[in-house]
Amino acid sequence: MSNAGLLARAKKVLAGAHTNLPGAGFAPRLMVKGEGAHLWDADGKEYIDFVLSAGPLIFGHSNPILLRALKDQLDTLWSLNSTIYQQSALEVELAENFVRHVPCAQKVHFNPTASETVQLVVRLARAYTGRRYFIRFEGHYHGWFDNIFGGVVNEQAAGRPFPVESSQDRLTGGRDMAALEQGFLLPWNDIEILEETLEKYGEEVALIIMEPILCNAGCCPPRPGYLEKVRQLCTKYGIVFCLDEVITGFRVALNSAQGLFGVTPDIATFGKAMAGGLPLAAFAGKQDMMDLFLSQKVVSGGTFGRYPLGLAAALASIRILESEDGAFYRKIDSIQKPLMEGLKEISRRLGIPLFLQGARGVFITRFVDIGREVAYSVRDFAGVDVPKERRWAELMAEEGVILMFGGRFYISSAHTESDVDRTLACAERVMRRL
Ligand SMILES: Cc1ncc(COP(=O)(O)O)c(C=O)c1O
Repeated sequence: MSNAGLLARAKKVLAGAHTNLPGAGFAPRLMVKGEGAHLWDADGKEYIDFVLSAGPLIFGHSNPILLRALKDQLDTLWSLNSTIYQQSALEVELAENFVRHVPCAQKVHFNPTASETVQLVVRLARAYTGRRYFIRFEGHYHGWFDNIFGGVVNEQAAGRPFPVESSQDRLTGGRDMAALEQGFLLPWNDIEILEETLEKYGEEVALIIMEPILCNAGCCPPRPGYLEKVRQLCTKYGIVFCLDEVITGFRVALNSAQGLFGVTPDIATFGKAMAGGLPLAAFAGKQDMMDLFLSQKVVSGGTFGRYPLGLAAALASIRILESEDGAFYRKIDSIQKPLMEGLKEISRRLGIPLFLQGARGVFITRFVDIGREVAYSVRDFAGVDVPKERRWAELMAEEGVILMFGGRFYISSAHTESDVDRTLACAERVMRRL
């Protein structure tokens, strides 16, 4: 089967392409095999994979330890002739691991996807506080549901700062516009704006949710002291503080971004890396709030949230991350550092304005000169050359290197020094053509 043949079949029967690949519509390359950090399309062409299915594959494709854990789990299910029996033991063990590693985790709840996990956190925070609104921030992504997807800051907001839809952001038809008024949307990393908003509306706010590092829009770090101040404000106003660690969780450190920064939220969401590539998400938080599920004051649903293969994959992933005193994290650093430095060096040598920054395991390449070392907000990328970025991703794919939209690279422990060398050689050829 060729790319063209498979694409023709796909267009007949599939509703759309995966939105995380560069470019809209169906990608011209259809991947049919993955091994380590490499992918093969239907024409048999090989690629170095920096998309890693939008982040989850932190050990690359077909990691033998993960595959063995899945096989053992299947064998167990087979011998028990059951897909249910084993899950309780697995679920307890996995939750114990969360509690051991993640500072805010006193109790844990599992779901298949992070989008619905975030919605449960919104529901829980409302029940816990008896308040209605949540606050979220420009550029942060917390799933595709109507109330939390996209929108831009309303600079003209006379009252509560609800977001507005804009062509500057990802738009979707079919949204219930009333849902946008469940939350406020503010610029991130600006403590004064948050303080002013809370002075007016703090008593109405149930939840503040943010990515601890803005991985979805430029890998922006929090300004020094920002997370600490948000923590204080949440305590002062009785607001539930949620760090959305769906990208950072287990990737940047075993105790996640909250561990790195030493700021403990009331609750945090996890997904992607936590199960090494299988669909599983979780939220973990403080006991009195989480116990609202136990007392049935808050109800959660979902048929597949505790499915054994996902739980087994997450347990195996944590075991790999725990092993050899952080070997996984050292490996990621040993790939990411020379790759980022190499890309910077090439762009400097060719006189191309290329901005790079990242957190462990993820970084961005953006074609813009922001005039300083660190970008703290999505607004810093206002002058970005979007057509050049599209060409960058497209030409890199032609060269055999796949990256995500927005020039995002995810790094896995399966990437090798030779992948770095090959990527840099491709990048130099592509930058010369941009
Ligand atoms: C920070 C963050 N939160 C939530 C989500 C939603 O996760 P899911 O795609 O599993 O629904 C994502 C997905 O990219 C994310 O990056």
